[in-house]
Amino acid sequence: IAKYVTPLAIPPVMPSLASADGAGDRYVIGVRQFRQQILPPGNPPTTVWGYGSVHHPRTFSSPAFTLEATAGRPVQVEWVNELVDGGGNYLGHLLPVDPTLHWANPPGGRTGRDSRPTFTTTPGPYRGPVPIITHLHGGDSVDRYDGHPEAWYLPAARNLPAGYATEGRQYADFGAESVDRDGTRWHSGSAVFRYDNDQRPATMWYHDHTLGITRLNVYAGMAGFYLLRGGPDDLPPGVLPGPAAAERNDERTRHHEIPIVVQDRSFTADGSLLYPVSRNLFDRLPGPYIPHSDLPPIWNPEFFGDTMMVNGRTWPFLAVEPRRYRLRFLNGCNGRVLDMKLVTNPVARRPASPVLPFWQIGSDGGFLPKPVRLARLLLAPAERADVIVDFAAFPAGTKLYLINEAPDGPFRGDPRDRPADPATTGQVMKFVVRPLAGRDGTVPPDQLTLPSFTPVGTASRTRRVALLERNSAVVDNAGPVAALLGTMEGGVKARMWSDPITENPAVGATEVWEIHNFTKDAHPIHVHEVEFQVADRRPFNGTARPAEQSETGYKDTVIAYPNQITRIRMTFDRAGLYVWHCHVLEHEDNEMMRPYRIGD
Ligand code: C2O
Ligand code: CU
Repeated sequence: IAKYVTPLAIPPVMPSLASADGAGDRYVIGVRQFRQQILPPGNPPTTVWGYGSVHHPRTFSSPAFTLEATAGRPVQVEWVNELVDGGGNYLGHLLPVDPTLHWANPPGGRTGRDSRPTFTTTPGPYRGPVPIITHLHGGDSVDRYDGHPEAWYLPAARNLPAGYATEGRQYADFGAESVDRDGTRWHSGSAVFRYDNDQRPATMWYHDHTLGITRLNVYAGMAGFYLLRGGPDDLPPGVLPGPAAAERNDERTRHHEIPIVVQDRSFTADGSLLYPVSRNLFDRLPGPYIPHSDLPPIWNPEFFGDTMMVNGRTWPFLAVEPRRYRLRFLNGCNGRVLDMKLVTNPVARRPASPVLPFWQIGSDGGFLPKPVRLARLLLAPAERADVIVDFAAFPAGTKLYLINEAPDGPFRGDPRDRPADPATTGQVMKFVVRPLAGRDGTVPPDQLTLPSFTPVGTASRTRRVALLERNSAVVDNAGPVAALLGTMEGGVKARMWSDPITENPAVGATEVWEIHNFTKDAHPIHVHEVEFQVADRRPFNGTARPAEQSETGYKDTVIAYPNQITRIRMTFDRAGLYVWHCHVLEHEDNEMMRPYRIGD
């Protein structure tokens, strides 16, 4: 696959519907199947699933068009499951579903609250309709709009099989509101969610969150950016590269502020997305993985592809002016940690020496207290970094490369780990400097004053939670180790998704969670509803060190290193049923996720 022949795609703004009462932004966003030229021209297009405005067929893409939101102005989205063919009949999954996991399981029908799931026992691939549910990652959302993994629903297909549940059981448990459902319409194939946007401006993203198949739905393409701007916690127009809140649809300034989602993928020769169907292959081959038809699809502990896709194209390039850019990075990989640098020689020996720093100004939850100069950008799955890169020193024609030095495998946090293959996944994208088109009036990052920052308050309680391992012997008794979440009150104990809730903070409470990682690998731990601060990290038998400079703002996802205690502090400000989980999507899909409840 040739590198750097396709220009970087910059996701356009998602078109909104006119709002009848002028009170907010309204969207009707579907998920459809379509083809996209992910590989360079001359290669076959790839069939993907992605979001788009149902009234504008040309807006369907992966990553999706960007949802632009304004602080204090609510957004209403009707999320429509349109995974049907031209005749209105449902589509089966593009990728291999492992029906032995605890997953959405529509053929299982409705089951009672807190009961054990009834697993599909039919051997071989799941061929039924595909459930979806959308989560706004980083959103401080009301719980019934949060995209609970069991609040999934099927498309309104003509040929739904008898006996299938058409929606998940869990949303019905959301409490009194489910009687009148308070604005939430649950009819065939769609759900209407409302996002209040009463939080600090931030780089958020939306993606599928269906129980047990999130890794497949997101890998198939269901992800997009959600940028919240404006309000007292944003900067005035002109300070940063790119549009201010008032001019968020202005295409002239948008190309100085670019959301960049990095995702690893593998492809078959016909251009299809390739996802491994057997862990045996995973165990024996370094990848890519070849579909193997005589085994049922089996969950793999982590997916690692052999190509790098940026904004839905493999190894793109971007022409930049010698000026400052605001790049909003998202690690959208299923399981791969990224350790990125800007260099002039992309195949140089690792570790490479960077030629240009990243000035990080924001992280998951918005602006940092002050800009931070970084030689490398370390991002685990779902983490975001809002950075300024200044190309001003480079003459037109200069070529710069974004490379990746994290391993092609599980991340342990050890810098001596073998870095990604410099010929493939060790490269991400290329920047080519072109002549300056207009003066750069933005503020240099070392002189930038960021909006005032209020730290999370003092905690009234400390909760110890655990990351654990177990042997998974679901199908062939030769399974790899799977990770779980657990509690530590009265001894370390692993807890399954279906076990009763153990984390139940009071509304308004501030807590410290001590995440004890007893596994061999680092895990990116994500807590819904809150933005937290990273307090510190301490080896099991060592002294604490403070959060990294890049972690001095609000976070919603944190790397918990093996044999360490990672402490996060957060205030739970909305009552409701939420989840916390590992954001390695393969882990999340196989029990490394727990429900938790705020309030009664
Ligand atoms: Cu990005 Cu619970 O997810
Ligand atoms: Cu994990």
